[in-house]
Amino acid sequence: MTRNIRVTVAGATGYVGGSVVEGLRSHEFWVRALTRDPARLKNPQFCDDVFVGHATRPETLRGLCDGIDVVFSSIGIRSFARKPTVWEVVYTANINILNEARAAGVKHVIFISALRAPEMARICPIAVAREMVVGAIVGSGLRYTIYRPTAFFNDIQEVFYSAAKRGVYYQIGNPEVRMNPLHGLDFADEVAQAIVDSSRWNIIRPVGGPEILSRRAIVALAFQALERPVKVRRLPTGSISLAAALIKPFHYNLYSILKFMEFALQTEDMTGDPIGRRRIGDAFRELFRRERASRGGSRPGAPDQPIADLNSAAVVQQLPG
Ligand SMILES: NC(=O)c1ccc[n+]([C@@H]2O[C@H](COP(=O)([O-])OP(=O)(O)OC[C@H]3O[C@@H](n4cnc5c(N)ncnc54)[C@H](OP(=O)(O)O)[C@@H]3O)[C@@H](O)[C@H]2O)c1
Repeated sequence: MTRNIRVTVAGATGYVGGSVVEGLRSHEFWVRALTRDPARLKNPQFCDDVFVGHATRPETLRGLCDGIDVVFSSIGIRSFARKPTVWEVVYTANINILNEARAAGVKHVIFISALRAPEMARICPIAVAREMVVGAIVGSGLRYTIYRPTAFFNDIQEVFYSAAKRGVYYQIGNPEVRMNPLHGLDFADEVAQAIVDSSRWNIIRPVGGPEILSRRAIVALAFQALERPVKVRRLPTGSISLAAALIKPFHYNLYSILKFMEFALQTEDMTGDPIGRRRIGDAFRELFRRERASRGGSRPGAPDQPIADLNSAAVVQQLPG
């Protein structure tokens, strides 16, 4: 039945969008991926169609939504590039996609913002831009489902890399902040449900994974997976605030990312409605197992073997069921 429902996924080369492509295909939806570069799709085998276009350039999006019932977008900035700006990527690109969806008669738009984004918007331009898109979608008259997720596994696994590389983890901010890390495929199941379940239409929902953990506990799980003693040096949140203030005149995108971190690292409750079943401790153990196997049995992070070559998104997406 779902095979008759056609979905365009924007952000398909990223962690969240790539997971949504995979999850929707496993639920037998028909999936079109939007990408600037098809070679960057991690899982083209899950796409029924690939549409090449630049979301920041509306003239390249003509036809993106033809014959489409649902549009999902997770396009956004997580890299440290200076250009294009936060506004061009987070706001303009997503508005361009919304305009295409309206013009083509799409029924349903699904979008992700970030947990507590309306509060975060007081200090963080990324949150402002994402919430402006939320406002435009809600006001569009189209059916919508908006998710405000906590951190996904691709963000949290940076704890593992850092601990593996240095043997010590430099923890900025409040270690008692609670969150429930979310796996992309668990989120994709939720998106699939939102398409067919009318109780998920025209709602804005904060979401996270099944397990609520403090940041302190997450660091401990990373060291446990690495089979090493927990070693943590704490740095005050002020260090991020200071770095953000200093960088702002030179690198606005980096400033915006630092302000996102400043909020997330000191807001005590960063938990959303629990969904899914995958746990971050299992993901850390799987990273360790794969990394050790690829090194012929030696432990990741051994001094002669830097860990920088781990392919994070692929590893967490392949966690056993
Ligand atoms: N990951 C998290 O923990 C988390 C938590 C809460 C909210 N979010 C929100 O969700 C968004 C997506 O997260 P993610 O982890 O999937 O990020 P990601 O892996 O970096 O993916 C970002 C996507 O946006 C696309 N994109 C970036 N710049 C673009 C541009 N100039 N033109 C067209 N497309 C562009 C990327 O395409 P290319 O591959 O072509 O660059 C990629 O498909 C984030 O930006 C964030 O605001 C993420």
